[in-house]
Amino acid sequence: MTRTPAHRSPAATLLRPRARLAPGLTLALSLSLAAALPVTLAPRPAPAHELSKAELKEIKKVMKTWAKALGVKCGFCHNIRNFKEWTAHREVAHAMKSVFLGKLKHPEAGKPMVCGTCHLGDLKPDPAALSKIGHSKLKALAPAFKAAAGKAKHAKAQAELKEIAEHLEALK
Ligand code: HEC
Ligand code: HEC
Repeated sequence: MTRTPAHRSPAATLLRPRARLAPGLTLALSLSLAAALPVTLAPRPAPAHELSKAELKEIKKVMKTWAKALGVKCGFCHNIRNFKEWTAHREVAHAMKSVFLGKLKHPEAGKPMVCGTCHLGDLKPDPAALSKIGHSKLKALAPAFKAAAGKAKHAKAQAELKEIAEHLEALK
């Protein structure tokens, strides 16, 4: 797996994810949780050429915070010659966004949950940050990643999403 050298950047942790996205492909994922609530991956945004200038500007701003939060470059998730393409890492990042940003609250009231809340500038999430959020809350979301793995197009994304689910299930 390609990894860009990580750097810690607490400033990147508090930047807000974008809320409004163009309608796109919604994947209804059924959960095997007791409540059996459907978990939906957030809609995929429209490809860049269909976004307005303002939307594109906004999404690029969010993208910079994602890259910083993970300590990677745009090319980690994108084919930078074709931003329309959905690469394996992009599928994983989209599931992270849908499940974690969509379902969890920041442990400190009033702060938005963002990628950097857990990643702190590194692809490997910070164990202390995960403890703060609460392992039981994270474990409860493992089935959503399994379901996302089942829906992913890239074999590499399927494998990574399954690994993430296993990682969450193993939290004590
Ligand atoms: C960790 C993975 C990741 C990184 C790093 C990343 N992106 Fe993205 N990018 C995504 C995902 C996933 C989407 C779809 C948005 C969503 O899931 O809501 C996206 C959407 C976009 C879009 C919207 C257009 C479209 O085709 O949907 C643009 C433009 C974009 N990214 C540019 C960038 C740029 C520029 C950088 C570097 C500053 C960057 N991205 C870094 C994952 C990433
Ligand atoms: C609630 C904590 C949390 C949040 C918030 C979070 N992640 Fe993660 N992330 C994790 C965990 C846990 C893993 C699994 C690590 C493992 O299996 O070793 C992970 C793994 C990943 C990976 C795979 C890393 C690899 O080794 O290739 C990517 C990519 C990723 N996250 C992107 C994102 C993006 C993009 C966001 C924001 C949209 C985000 N994450 C938000 C906890 C989080």
